[in-house]
Order: sequence, then structure tokens, then C-alpha cells
Amino acid sequence: MDIKNIISQMTLEEKARFCSGADEWHIEKLDRLGVPTVMMSDGPHGLRKKVKTQAESYFYGDTVKSTCFPSAAGLACSWNKELLYGLGEALAAEAKGEQISILLGPGINMKRSPLCGRNFEYFSEDPYLAGKLSAQYIKGVQAHGVGTSLKHFAVNNQEHRRHCTNAIVDMRTLREIYLAAFEIAVKEAKPATIMHSYNCINGDQVSKSKWLLNDILREEWGYEGMVMSDWNGMNNRVVSLEAGSDLEMPGSFGIRDAQIVKAVKEGRLDEKVVDRAVERIIKTSYNWQPDENAEKADLVKSHAFCAKVGEETMVLLKNDNNVLPICDNKPLAVIGEFAKTPRYQGGGSSHVNAAFVDDVLECMTERNGGMVEFASGYTLEGDVNTPDEALIAEAVETAKKCGRAVIFAGMPSKFESESYDRRNMKLPESHNELIERIVKEVPETVVVLLGGSPVEMPWLDKVSALFYAYLGGCAIGKAISRLIYGDACPSGKLAETFPVKLEHNPTYLNFPGVGNDVVYAEGVFIGYRYYQKKQIDVNFSFGYGLSYTTFSYDEIKVDGDKVTVKVTNTGKVAGKEAVQLYVGAPASYVERPVKELKGFEKIYLEPGESKTVEFELCDRSFAYYDVRINDWRVESGEYTIYVGGSSVDTPLTATVEKVDNNPYIEPITINTPVIDIMTLPVYEPIREEFMMKILPPVSREKVKEIGFFYKKHPSIYPRRYHTMRMSVRWNDGNMTEEMLMQYIDEANAKLFNK
Ligand code: BGC
Repeated sequence: MDIKNIISQMTLEEKARFCSGADEWHIEKLDRLGVPTVMMSDGPHGLRKKVKTQAESYFYGDTVKSTCFPSAAGLACSWNKELLYGLGEALAAEAKGEQISILLGPGINMKRSPLCGRNFEYFSEDPYLAGKLSAQYIKGVQAHGVGTSLKHFAVNNQEHRRHCTNAIVDMRTLREIYLAAFEIAVKEAKPATIMHSYNCINGDQVSKSKWLLNDILREEWGYEGMVMSDWNGMNNRVVSLEAGSDLEMPGSFGIRDAQIVKAVKEGRLDEKVVDRAVERIIKTSYNWQPDENAEKADLVKSHAFCAKVGEETMVLLKNDNNVLPICDNKPLAVIGEFAKTPRYQGGGSSHVNAAFVDDVLECMTERNGGMVEFASGYTLEGDVNTPDEALIAEAVETAKKCGRAVIFAGMPSKFESESYDRRNMKLPESHNELIERIVKEVPETVVVLLGGSPVEMPWLDKVSALFYAYLGGCAIGKAISRLIYGDACPSGKLAETFPVKLEHNPTYLNFPGVGNDVVYAEGVFIGYRYYQKKQIDVNFSFGYGLSYTTFSYDEIKVDGDKVTVKVTNTGKVAGKEAVQLYVGAPASYVERPVKELKGFEKIYLEPGESKTVEFELCDRSFAYYDVRINDWRVESGEYTIYVGGSSVDTPLTATVEKVDNNPYIEPITINTPVIDIMTLPVYEPIREEFMMKILPPVSREKVKEIGFFYKKHPSIYPRRYHTMRMSVRWNDGNMTEEMLMQYIDEANAKLFNK
């Protein structure tokens, strides 16, 4: 298709029309030149194809029936790349059957605070995990002719004032944390489109950030697809076009078209900029045309797959005395309204009209041979927070009668959603009270929590077992009952830290910000990077999750950038293990995390079986973003490779030596302190000669004695923080400023080989 030729035949007005949606969900078409339209639809964990226009309805129910898969917070706990690819394929099948060309997802913003209302839709607090898993999702969808929209690019980490927040964040943190997941997904999976976010970054609204949308995304990362706005997320159409935002969504009823035409006619906007955007838009439509003959997806099959996905997303966090799995059909109390009305998805634009929803109670009853007694324990209507004494008393009696209980509790839907953040990290008081009262009477109590992000657990020590089931999708009943009864072995591991309380979170004093400004003061230290560095105890660490079997880790081997380890299933049942590799940097120019995730593989092992797991590292596995050169740097030194089953349980370690062949050299100036010359290896070639010229004669002898190079902190030398300009005074009138400048120039010439 010769798109350039098509564009050459379009009028300016026609081109301007293409720069915003035809309506809420379609890209424009042009019958005159045979340019087709395409339809997009949310995303990310199920199809939300609207069957009515916005004017007609804004209700959840007005979308087609489809499968509601577990949301991203849970998906990430699978740590399973293949599963995410398969999920992508299943989503594509449903989209194809509904003639949808672009699925609006995945969302991969970082979980900076547990309070972000949209955390349930995002993958992780770790960019590597989020990037790698979302890349598989994108590949899976796009392999079947349906495009994706990676969102919300970038630094969109809260819902509070979401259309106007201004994230104040330093460049290293941006690169290492907030852009890194996008970078991985863009480079590995080439999403058809990218949706930019509502917020500002360091004062610049993303929709008009040429730096982000063009310089980084296109020029640096090589992205060739179309960039679109989040819905109603653009201030100035003309400026955004120039910055690289091709398509504004949704349609503007012609208002924006007129602005574009006017700007071109008045010479404020180069028509070539419009052509560039239109080319990308039309290319997207051609590349992702729907298949008119595609059959509707088999939703029954999809539902069964949804249960399989769900099994890997739920995390077993506690299992005292192996109370789980339940292996008998003795009476069981199933407590909690969630067992009848499960919360399996989050609110907002990702809300799916699920074709089938499992009744958890029914699944549990069937699996327990019918020997189940139910009590709701709390209500999901009206005041969900205040404990209802009558319901609690009934639940306690039911639990006592059965002698053991499984309580389904968690966060009601109004606690977290797109459009607003949570107020705190607490469960409803009614749920906490219910759990406390039941465990007091019935020690064998299992708690299953449903929710999109971490919660405080004041009763944690008292319960026997605990699953965090996240928002497990519409087959939640099947998935959780199979796990509880051991038909499936738990293999989910947390993709985010569960702190003991909100106050421990690194963003506590800077979330959700003051007015529009949100200072990302914690820098790169989000999630486990912070808790480990500060040695703060958490309830559950990043990467943690129990199984019904056990695994041993042996034989770590490092060969160049290849790391292999042997993992064995040492327990009695078959199971999957998410094997995790972390890298810890040596003492660095900057403060670095204790360790960072740089590889993971999920493997399946029969009892007694061993497998060798292989990881391929690269420069980026060791690098930090060096703002002095605006690039990544691997510093010289000994790095530690940690491998194990969670971020805090890494039984295998090895070291790797790296040499920085192009170390950064700061030119010497009159403001360079003595300590730099005497400690930084880069000054080695000039150190002795230079120091002998500028030090006071008395110190020359002293320094000669103790050596010119301090490997350790040179507390021994009192003038360590003095800068070069002081050397004129030190030398009792024997050195002039001209002489000092000459010495500095000579040293720099030698350092830079001039
Ligand atoms: C959300 C996007 C969504 C879009 C279309 C916006 O409000 O932020 O994630 O894709 O609406 O529904």
C-alpha cells in the first residue's frame, strides 16, 4: 500500500480530520481514496467492546459479553512469560471475533504507592518484570492480527488529580524505573500503538513532550508505530502534533480539525508534520484491518483457560502446619459475601461484561463433597466498613459448628478503582473484625483475600493460611478451589512488596502530592529496592510465594554473560517455580539498590525432577543511568549474582567482574576537591605528578608517606574536601593563580590525551 501516495491526494482538511478519532472508538476513514477505518476497544484483561455510543450510554453492561481474565496485578504474580503470551492469544481471539483491531492495553505503569487506584491494572513495582511480561502479552495478541496499545506512557502512577498531576522526578529515576518497562516492551514487542498519559513530567504535559514522544520513544528506542492520546488527554492539538502525538482520542466533532487547518494556513504548523501523523495513522489502519470472516471466540473454552491463568496468579502467603491443601471432605465453613459475590475485576475503563462468572461457594461446596456451611459475615451493600454484629455472630457460630473455616474477604469495589486512589491500606473494619472474631474461636482458619493491591493485615499472625487471590478473573471460583484442594499447586509469587503498614512505604510523605506537584523523592528506591536498602521488615517480600512442594537450588555457573543454575523439586507433588535472578552492584558513584531483578524463568518440575535454568545477562543487567553522560554505564567492579525463589531468599550467589573501558572523567577545575583526585581511579595517570605540584609542601611529604591513592575513605587527610583553588593560598605565595591554571590545563590535557 502506497500510503504516501494516498496522502498526496488528500486535502489538508481531510488530513486534519484523521488526526483525531472518528468517534469514541474508531479511527477515521476516507471512502474517496479507499482508506478503511478500524475499531479499538479496552483492554487490558478482557474485551470491553461498546455496543452503544457514549451519548447513548456510559454503563458497564453496554459492552459485549467476553471473558474477564485476572487483572495485571495478578497476572504479574504468575511470573510466567508463556502464560502471558497465551493470554494475549486468547484476548486476540475474542477481539478478532468482534472485529476489534486494537486492544487498549496492557497498562504497565509502576506501582509507586500501594494506594494508586489503578494498581490492579498494572503489573509490578519492578520495571523488568513488568516489561518482560507485557512484551509477551503484546506478542501474543499481535501474533493473531490484533494490535495493542501500550499505556499509559509515562509516569502515570496515581489517579488523584490524574489529568493534571506533575511528576517531579529525576532523570536517573525516570530511566531506571519509570521508562524502563516501556523501553523493554517497545523494543521487544513493537506494540502497534502507544497511549500517552494525562500527567505532566517535570512541568511538561506528556501529550506535548517532544522529548518523550519523539526523542526517546522514536529516535532512541526506534519505535515506528502510532502514538495516541489517552481519552481527552491533550491540551493543545497543534503543539502535540509537533511533539509526536499522532492521533487524538476520542473524536473532537471537528473542533481540532479546524485548529490544525488554521495553524497550517497561518504558517504556524508545517503541513509535513500533519502528513507524518496521518501516515502513521493510516498505516495502523491498514496493518490491523479486522478479518471479516473471523468467527466469534469460544467463550466456554476461554473461561476454562481463564481458570488456568487464575491458578498461577493467586499467591499462597502463609500455610502453617501445611493446613492447605484441604485433603478431606469434613465439614467446612465458607464465610464471606465474596464467596457468593466475588470481586474478580476492577472498576473503570477495563470493566468487562463477563460472559460467565464462577460462584466461589458453589465451587467450594462441590469440591468439599457438599459438606459446606455458608455465612456472609459482612455486606457489600451500603456501609461496607462498619462491622455488622448479627452477621459476624452468625459467621462465628457457623465456623465453630464446622470446626474450620475458609474466609473470603478483601477490598470491596468502591475501595479501589480507576479515577481515584485509596485513602489508606486498610481492609474494611467489618472484614478485619470478622477475621479476628473467627480465629479466636476456630484456630484452623484460612483467609482468602480478593483485591487489587496490598493491604495491612492486623490479624496475620493468628490465621493458619492465607491466599492473596488478587482480582482473579471470572473463573475465580474454579481457580481458587483447585488451589485450596490441591488440584493445582500454588506457584504465584508477589510482583510487589506487601509492607506491614502504609507508613513504611517510601512514598508515604510524597503521595499524592501537594496540589498538582508530586515529588518522587524516593528516586529509584521504590518497592523492594527501598525496603531492602533501608532494612525495613515487610509482611511479604517481592517475589515471595509458597507452594505445596519445595525446591532446592544448586550449582550456579557463570560463563561470560550466561548464568545457569540447577533447580530440583524436593517435595512430594509436582509444581512450578518462578526462578529469580537478581544483580547487586559494587560500591558505586551513585547509591544503588541492594539487588535488582534481571532475569526470571518459570519452570515445571515433577517430584524429584531437576532442571537447569539458563539466564542471559547483558550490559543493562549491570548498568545504572549516568546523568553526567545521559547514557547507561557499567562501572568497574565485582557484581554479585543472586538466584533463588524470592528477592530475599537467594541461596545461590556468584560474582562477575566488569571493567568500564570508557570511565567518565570529570575535567579538573579550580572547584575539584582533593578527595576526587586521590580516590577516583580515572585520575590515576596524573595523580602523583599533579598532587606534588598543588599540595602545600608540608603535605607533599605526608601524602608521599601515606600514598597518593586512597582506596578507602581518606579520613587520614584533613584537607580532603579542599578544592584546587585553595592550593594558591597553601603554597605560601609561591603559586600564582596562573600557575594553578597551567597545572590544571596540563593535567586535563594528559587525561584527555590532547
Ligand atoms: C483510560 C484508558 C482507557 C480509555 C478508553 C481512559 O480514561 O485512562 O486507560 O483506555 O479511557 O476507555
